[in-house]
Amino acid sequence: IPLKSLEGKTVLITAGPTYEAIDPVRFIGNHSSGKMGYSLAEEASKRGAKVILISGPGSQTVHDKSIAVHKVTSAKEMLAKVFEFYDRIDIGIASAAVADYAPKEIAKEKIKKNDEHLTIELVKNPDILKTMGDKKTHQFLVGFALETQNEEENAKGKLEKKNLDMIVLNSLRDEGAGFKNDTNKIKIFTRTDEKEFDLKSKDEVAKDILDFVEAQLLK
Ligand code: C5P
Repeated sequence: IPLKSLEGKTVLITAGPTYEAIDPVRFIGNHSSGKMGYSLAEEASKRGAKVILISGPGSQTVHDKSIAVHKVTSAKEMLAKVFEFYDRIDIGIASAAVADYAPKEIAKEKIKKNDEHLTIELVKNPDILKTMGDKKTHQFLVGFALETQNEEENAKGKLEKKNLDMIVLNSLRDEGAGFKNDTNKIKIFTRTDEKEFDLKSKDEVAKDILDFVEAQLLK
């Protein structure tokens, strides 16, 4: 694949966790580091794409200054930011670990410890990628699936349910895969193809993913 193989394409990538506020000092979050998404952003930019990286909180930074980084905190903010750009993108890659639920109400003041029990009511967050899938016109959409059981079935189910073109499965059962690690082990599915890859650094995995996307676009 030539160096500037994504020249002329606009790629939007979601990355990292989302934080859902409970009160002014607390939130519900997860251990996503954002590394996979940031590696994808750097690699897509190297290949000549215009890259829009929509990132949840975290310590990752981009080295390539031409990547447009938009920092958000909650799932709702991430959704809104994605749809500022959605019509203009060619490829959307959702690597963010979006919180599935958020507190129904954000307490205005710090919640005091009084009683033995505290109940926080949670409501479902928007599914950003499903919303992208529902509104898809020309965009090539890539999702991620992190599964602990019935992995392939669940991944293929998400491909259909979210109207995606491609899904990247990372299994938590594989040592060194997923979340906080610098390495990942993936299997890619489209409606017609599938391919399993070895355990590699996330930078190398990003190359495999974008090679696969490019091959699909050429079909
Ligand atoms: O349904 P599940 O969370 O397993 O789907 C994972 C895929 O959907 C990932 O690509 C993730 O970024 C995306 N997603 C999203 N918004 C959510 C939940 C998941 O974009 N609220």
